[in-house]
Order: sequence, then structure tokens, then C-alpha cells
Amino acid sequence: MKTLKLESEVLVYEDRDEIPEDIMRLLVQAEDAATRAYAKYSNFQVGAAILLNNGEVVTGSNQENAVYPCGLCAERTAAFAASSRFPEVPFHTIVVTAINPVSPLTQPVSPCGSCRQALYEYEQKFNQPIEVVLSGQSGPVYRFRCVADLLPYTFHAGFLP
Ligand code: THU
Repeated sequence: MKTLKLESEVLVYEDRDEIPEDIMRLLVQAEDAATRAYAKYSNFQVGAAILLNNGEVVTGSNQENAVYPCGLCAERTAAFAASSRFPEVPFHTIVVTAINPVSPLTQPVSPCGSCRQALYEYEQKFNQPIEVVLSGQSGPVYRFRCVADLLPYTFHAGFLP
């Protein structure tokens, strides 16, 4: 028997002043996208901004539905839009943030498992790490090197027949 250690590094910006300009620009776009969420049922507004290798930025917000499972998270809304518009262009960075109108988020939002899996697909497709930056309404901002760091022991196409 042995123990496997899972190690992933996350850069933590403790203060907004520390955030590099290019990331800050994306964060502002993600914040703006969050205000366009259709979050009628949860009131939790999420925004995502994806920077592509060609310099384009595609944003998305969560879109809810009276039939709850029909809704989609901001990350996948943005990822699917980006891949639909630019199917051959790798994702460079995704920035995600959220607005809780009742109790403002003081910690970074955490993408759900399905979004991690969906983003991982594009990381694999282009064999290029996608940086993931997570923010709340205040407090620290986390910067992960790649999606795989957020989803160890990932299911991938290699398992399929
Ligand atoms: N949501 C996202 O859009 N992204 C996340 O990272 C977490 C959750 C959405 C789904 C749903 O519309 C609402 O937030 C509450 O779960």
C-alpha cells in the first residue's frame, strides 16, 4: 500500500492591487457578465470571461429555468459560446466571479464539478493549460495554473473504447 499525494499550486492575490492588469481587465468583464445573469430562482449571479489565444474575450452568465436542471452555469455558457464561435482557438484563461445579493461573497466562487469537467475537455482538445482565476465580490482572488489542478483523477476520453 502507498499514499499518493495530490499537489496543486494556487496563486493567491490577497489584495486587488496585486492583480496584474490583463487579469483585472478580464475580471471586470466577468463582473459585468454577472450582472447579465438570468438567475431568477437562485438570485446567485455568476459571470465568466474567457480569453482565447487569438485575443478575443467571450463572456457568459448563468441562465436559469423554471425546470431547474435546464439551467446552465456561467462557465459552461461562456465555454460553449467561445467554442461555437472559435472552434479552433484554444482557451487561454477563464475568470469567474459571482454576486450574492443577500450576503456578498468574501471568498472566491468555486466552479461546480460539471463545469470543471467541461473546461477540462477544451484543455485536452488543444493540449494547452487553461488558467483559472476565481474571485468573489471582495477578498482574495485565486489563480490556478490549469483546469486539471481543479479536477484530479479526471475522467477523460482515454477511458472510452
Ligand atoms: N453557478 C454558476 O453559474 N457557476 C458556478 O460556479 C456555481 C453555480 C450557478 C448555477 C445556478 O444558476 C446558480 O449559480 C446557483 O447554483
